[in-house]
Amino acid sequence: MRISVIGCGYLGAVHAAAMASLGHEVVGIDVDERKIDALRAGRAPFFEPGLPELLLEAGDAGGLTFSTDIAAVAGARVHFVCVGTPQMKGEFRADMRYVDASVTSLLPHLQPGDVVVGKSTVPVGTAERLAEQIAPTGATLIWNPEFLREGFAVEDTLHPDRFVYGLPTDEAGVVTAAGEAAKALLDEVYATPLSDGTPLVVTDYPTAQLVKVAANSFLATKISFINAMAELCEATGGDVTQLADAIGYDVRIGRKFLNAGLGFGGGCLPKDIRAFMARAGELGVDQALTFLREVDSINGRRRERMVELAREVCEGTLVGKRVAVLGATFKPNSDDIRDSPALAVADMLDKAGAHVVVTDPQGIENARAARPELHYAENVLDAVRDADVVLLGTEWAQYRELDPDALAGVVAGRHILDGRNVLDPARWRAAGWTYRALGRP
Ligand code: UDX
Repeated sequence: MRISVIGCGYLGAVHAAAMASLGHEVVGIDVDERKIDALRAGRAPFFEPGLPELLLEAGDAGGLTFSTDIAAVAGARVHFVCVGTPQMKGEFRADMRYVDASVTSLLPHLQPGDVVVGKSTVPVGTAERLAEQIAPTGATLIWNPEFLREGFAVEDTLHPDRFVYGLPTDEAGVVTAAGEAAKALLDEVYATPLSDGTPLVVTDYPTAQLVKVAANSFLATKISFINAMAELCEATGGDVTQLADAIGYDVRIGRKFLNAGLGFGGGCLPKDIRAFMARAGELGVDQALTFLREVDSINGRRRERMVELAREVCEGTLVGKRVAVLGATFKPNSDDIRDSPALAVADMLDKAGAHVVVTDPQGIENARAARPELHYAENVLDAVRDADVVLLGTEWAQYRELDPDALAGVVAGRHILDGRNVLDPARWRAAGWTYRALGRP
């Protein structure tokens, strides 16, 4: 089937390539010429494992093209809206300008029977508004949120945990005939993962939009819950990693997303919980989500605590101290530094007077552009040379496996701060290091 994907960022570029790999004829649209040029040349405009291979494969087969011209959607029957909804500057609300602009630009190209599929994360109520805008064209809107994780985006797109379709319903809550026809077309697009037994939840617009923000709020809450327990462990001498293991064995709780440390960052969880709170306020139910304020502030407190730990090991002042920060991205296997806890801590250390040297396997270029005042090193050895403190901020596999003996001779002070609770304290202590971590004795 010929389909279009509007927006070629983390979500759209992966979606376009993944749909092409399923055998569809895909055109990806973006206003950013640099991005489109890269994608046309078969290059991923950001680091995402598996994406370059998929782009090359689909490009060679001829099923994947890119354009900055929205008119290139001609002939497509299904149009995926995959643009970003970043946080508004100085506000909790989501900035809807890219979603609105893409739908407006798409309108003149829609044919009766076409399906517009909303994948962007939006404040609940957006789908209803967009559906009204689309109605005169004879096209139908389906709300189909995306749950992909960066670093696993290809895998998550091709083998999702579930599909959610929000369909148009009549006053009695019954899916309209146009909704059923649109569903049949989207089922065709997702035929392979659907036939593999991927669960499908068919629902209405409000539920589909809420599923996405509810899922991200739950994940954020889980992380902040364990980080709150880390604060209790710090006050009592307990060990939050053992506590997480112990409660995680209860299948009702589960061990996933109970890793205490510097907390959550990225382009989704932080802004999504804030936008959700803002939307609840507009709907007059802000009290239902006041707990998300706590989730957000627990998350922020972990960064401050890490700076305190650094100050403690530096005997009270960070002024003039050299701190090596390992990791700039918000998580491993990504080059994304949006709201990165590691980079935020690096920035706080810099403001406290330290000389901060940051390294990262993929994120240095983005970090340097965002925080030019920090110092950067291409590898761990250069970063830790003469450091008074080494801080692990992002749990890249190569940092988990660092050899404390190999680093011992290069640093000025053997102090390691484990911001992700991934190092073995006994091993580092045996090599003569002071090991400190969040939520561990
Ligand atoms: C998230 C959701 O997981 C995904 O379903 C949604 O579509 C988009 O938002 P992503 O932003 O890629 O995906 O990252 P995720 O793997 O969820 O991690 C988010 C942050 O939480 C990272 O900074 C990570 O380091 C942190 N985290 C995660 C923890 O601090 N502890 C954990 O136990 C898990």
